[in-house]
Amino acid sequence: MRQMARWALGAALIAPATLVFADPPPPPPYQMRAQAPSGNRLNPGRDGKVLFENHCGYCHLTFGMGTNLLVKQRLAAGASPATALLANRDDLTAAYVHAVVRMGKGAMPPQTRVDVTDAELDSVAAWLGRGK
Ligand code: HEC
Repeated sequence: MRQMARWALGAALIAPATLVFADPPPPPPYQMRAQAPSGNRLNPGRDGKVLFENHCGYCHLTFGMGTNLLVKQRLAAGASPATALLANRDDLTAAYVHAVVRMGKGAMPPQTRVDVTDAELDSVAAWLGRGK
């Protein structure tokens, strides 16, 4: 504390007219995990969009780290940054989603059958792959 006060005093003496001691900016918002849908996790045919938001959304909705990392990849691929949100993609196939989820990809850790059951993954992959 005392050191900071000394630094501030020194800085103010060096450049009194240009230094502004403002509060730091607020932290960026981050993605919370969406609520788990009701129903048996082993049953097929549940809502893929809702399952996606719960199981993948904390990384793949707005402000999620998956979305943030994919912005760079999408731009490098010449695609719109909006396609960093997986929900906006029309080029994903269900088979590709299955493979990435079970094996992981780059910074995405593999998701086990405890994280996402086979039935849940089928629903999520069908929903994400709906454009193909
Ligand atoms: C812990 C965070 C995290 C979770 C949970 C997560 N992902 Fe990811 N995902 C990422 C990251 C980060 C990437 C980018 C990986 C890279 O290339 O470095 C990614 C990439 C992907 C890709 C590849 C996109 C492309 O353009 O190749 C798909 C498909 C995907 N995730 C699907 C899912 C699905 C479906 C779920 C839920 C079952 C899920 N992810 C859960 C972090 C996550």
